[in-house]
Amino acid sequence: MRRLKARLTTCLAVVGCCALLAHAEDMPGESGALPKVRITQQEIAAGAVTRESIRQMGLRLFTTPMNRLDGYGDGPMNLEDTVSPGGRPTLQGNGTFLRVNGLDAQSCLECHSIVSAASIPPRLGIGGVGGSIANAIISPTEMDPANLKDLDGKARFNGRFANPPFLFGVGAVELLGLEMTADLQAYAQEALDHPGREIVLLTKGVHFGVLTANTDGALDFSGVTGVDEDLVVKPFGRKGEFATTREFDTGALQFHLGMQPTEVVGRDVDPDSDGVRNEIRPGDLSALGIFTATLERPYMERLSPSAQRGFDAFRDVGCAGCHMPTLDTQRHRLPLRFPEQPSDPWVNVYYQVDLTEAPVKFPRKRRGGITVPLFADLKRHDMGAGLREDFALATEQRNREFTTARLWGVADTAPYLHDGRATTLTDAILLHGGEAQSVRAAFADLSDESKVDILTFLRSLRTPKNPAVKLAASMNRRTPARSKSGKPKKSRKPHKSSR
Ligand code: HEC
Ligand code: HEC
Repeated sequence: MRRLKARLTTCLAVVGCCALLAHAEDMPGESGALPKVRITQQEIAAGAVTRESIRQMGLRLFTTPMNRLDGYGDGPMNLEDTVSPGGRPTLQGNGTFLRVNGLDAQSCLECHSIVSAASIPPRLGIGGVGGSIANAIISPTEMDPANLKDLDGKARFNGRFANPPFLFGVGAVELLGLEMTADLQAYAQEALDHPGREIVLLTKGVHFGVLTANTDGALDFSGVTGVDEDLVVKPFGRKGEFATTREFDTGALQFHLGMQPTEVVGRDVDPDSDGVRNEIRPGDLSALGIFTATLERPYMERLSPSAQRGFDAFRDVGCAGCHMPTLDTQRHRLPLRFPEQPSDPWVNVYYQVDLTEAPVKFPRKRRGGITVPLFADLKRHDMGAGLREDFALATEQRNREFTTARLWGVADTAPYLHDGRATTLTDAILLHGGEAQSVRAAFADLSDESKVDILTFLRSLRTPKNPAVKLAASMNRRTPARSKSGKPKKSRKPHKSSR
């Protein structure tokens, strides 16, 4: 009881500390960092704004370091739920950052910022991966970093530890997921229409097991693998938990930044009591989604003879069973929907992103779809005890499962695996277990020469060179630099560098 009282007193101290920080109206000369006037959902849906200006708005939302006047951060601590976004405590009551369980950055860019870790110095840019410093530390309630409990070299931790992947190509990945979901939903209907018949869940060459319906109309999911019982394919998040980037982004905004989307919390309310309402509006999430769906995509370099041999070995050894080199879509336009209805991907469409247009530019196939060289199957796999997480909120099975990492761009994205534990490609491969155990063993048994070939092949899978650079330049051209007199500045020739 005394402990509880002590805890409550500290809690109240924290709450009090937050309250000391002034609200927007008491801060003359200060303003939010995001533009006050933003593109609305209605404007996007009505086609009243150009794609370029939507993308620019998305880029702003992705890269602007948000501050308290934008709604950054959580409000006073919620004593009933101190873990979910909205009322989390801050470290040492600093009032702004938490870091362990979110409130860990001011912008998306802070974590998605390395375009190539293979160039020296690394090439920084928009939408890339993060180093280990940018790992998200998700929902722990216990940590033993000094390993004082049993001194076994394993710092116990009951949350998730996740390394940021890049966002290039996400539009095509989302489209693949939607089409696969539509197929799986149709199979479920077929099963219901034919009770007792075993329906094979095969979409785009990926097997998700079998489904049967009982005569009483209940579906038997015991033969289903790699997808949830809602039969919605979820490519996003390393655990395969989100069907669309919009779903992911709604969570990311709240978790990392304490920015509350109206589509989650409601309009004209301030549930985190930080003095800011309507922090993120539907148009913001749409602009963010259109921006990421139109980022440049990863590509494969022309394969050298060694890389070509490596590609063959990659298939022979069984890597391609999960890392499927390509998946084809039927369409070339990604339909964006609001609100989203996960089991019916084609309703409430307000905008279509043509994935064959620059800068994404997938070549269009004769039948109308595109080929996506993602090196994955959008399916979850048991990766064994070695990669297992200790997340207290997940089941044993979910702790062992990860969605197949998409290997396009892998040359540039070290460190590898879900938490970035592998600093070399070989470590990443040798740490595979579970369903990949036999393939891992086959890789380990290869000759040194074949291993080198496979690595050479993987090193030809590259991230885009200058993602969003043109877009950023076009955004800044809109407001030409002005001199004090108000006339546009003459552009100065760059100084010749003295050698
Ligand atoms: C503190 C670092 C951090 C910040 C800040 C951050 N992210 Fe991420 N991002 C991650 C991590 C880690 C993952 C992988 C999460 C997982 O495995 O569940 C991720 C994954 C994603 C994904 C899914 C990609 C995929 O292929 O699975 C999207 C989309 C995304 N982030 C968008 C955003 C947006 C939009 C913002 C800003 C609102 C943002 N992120 C801010 C760390 C960050
Ligand atoms: C049973 C499915 C499966 C097989 C077979 C498989 N992988 Fe993977 N691979 C995965 C999954 C799932 C991950 C993500 C694991 C994680 O994040 O911890 C992954 C991750 C990787 C990564 C790290 C990528 C990154 O961005 O972090 C590399 C590299 C890789 N695999 C290469 C290979 C190679 C080479 C082979 C064949 C020798 C292979 N894999 C076989 C499922 C598989």
